[in-house]
Amino acid sequence: MTVLVTGGAGYIGSITLRAIRASGRAVVVLDTLERGHRAAVGDAPFVQGDIADSPLVERLCREHEVDEVVHFAAYKAVGESMENPHKYFSNNVAGSQRLLEALHRAGIGRIVFSSTAAVHGTPDSVPVRESDPIRCESVYAETKLMIERMLSWYGRTTPMRHVVLRYFNAAGAATDGTLGEDWRFSENLVPHVMKALIEGTALRVFGDDWPTPDGTGVRDYVHVEDLAAAHVAALDHLARGGESVTCNVGTGLGTSVREIIAVTERISGRPVPHGIAPRRAGDPVACWADVSTAAEVLGWTATRTIDDIIASALAWHTSHPHGHDS
Ligand code: WQD
Repeated sequence: MTVLVTGGAGYIGSITLRAIRASGRAVVVLDTLERGHRAAVGDAPFVQGDIADSPLVERLCREHEVDEVVHFAAYKAVGESMENPHKYFSNNVAGSQRLLEALHRAGIGRIVFSSTAAVHGTPDSVPVRESDPIRCESVYAETKLMIERMLSWYGRTTPMRHVVLRYFNAAGAATDGTLGEDWRFSENLVPHVMKALIEGTALRVFGDDWPTPDGTGVRDYVHVEDLAAAHVAALDHLARGGESVTCNVGTGLGTSVREIIAVTERISGRPVPHGIAPRRAGDPVACWADVSTAAEVLGWTATRTIDDIIASALAWHTSHPHGHDS
C-alpha cells in the first residue's frame, strides 16, 4: 500500500511519516517546504508542491499508485489566523477542497485528517468528548472544522471514508533525537520552555491565578510519537473496512504549566527561567481528552509519559537549536 502524506516535511508529519514507513507501507510526500524541511523527509519519495494543485495531486496519486492519504498540510498558528484569516481560509480550506477533489478523481477512498481539540473552544467540562459542543474560538480552529465537515459530506456522497484525529497538545520529539519542532516557528509551551532553558530567555507563564491546583493552565500533552502511532492505527482501521470516525488523540491526563517546568528542571538538572505574565486571551483554563473512542475504535492509547516528552524535546532542542537548519 502507498500513502500520500501531505505536509510530511513538517513537525508531526515527518515523525508520522517514519511510523507509516515502519508499518510496511510505501509513501510519497507532498509539501511546499514553506514551513517544512526537506531534511525531515529523509530518503522518502518527495514532491515539492501544493495541495491546491489538483492536477499535480491527481497525477501523483496515479503515478505512485496511492491507496491512502494522511493530510497534515496546513497553517497552524492560532494568533496568525486571527491577523490574517484569508491566508488560513485559502490554504487550509480552499487547499483541502482542491485536494479532496483530486483524490476523488484519482479514486482514493481512505483519508486520515489532522484536526484539533480547538474546535471545542473553551470546553464546558473535562474530559472533552468528541460529541461535546463545537464552538471554534479562532479562524485556525474554524478552518479545521470546515475540513471535517467537507470530509463528512464526501463520506455521505462518495465512497471516501475518513478518520478525523483531533489532536490535543502534541509535544516532544523523535526518541532518537533526529526529528522535532523548530521553536522559531512555534507558539506552544514545550518549545518555549526549551528555549528558556537553553538560551536563558525567560518563559512567560500566562497566568498563575487560574482555578487549578497550582494556578496555571492545564492541558493534555501527547507525545508526538504516540500521535504518529494513532495515524497508523487510523490507516489500519480504514484498510480493514472500518467506518468513518472522529477520535480525540490525547492521553486523558491533564498537566499544568508549573508541572511541565518542574519536570524539565528535574530532567535537565537546571532551572527554567520564567516569570508570570497576564493570562493569554482565548486560553481555556483546563482541557484534556476523553480517549475512549480511539481506544475502542482504533485500538490506540498513548503509552508515553510527560517525562518522555520532556526528555525527547530536551535532546532534540539541545542538538538542534535552529531546528533542521542547525
Ligand atoms: C499550553 C499551555 C498556555 C506558551 C494551541 C492551539 C491548539 C493546538 C495546540 C495546533 C497554556 C501556556 C504557553 C507560553 C505559557 N494547535 N503557555 N507560556 O493553547 O493549549 O493549544 O496549540 O495546531 O489549536 O490552541 O497550547 O502550547 O500554546 O499552551 O504559559 O509561552 O501553556 O497558557 O496553558 P494551547 P500552548
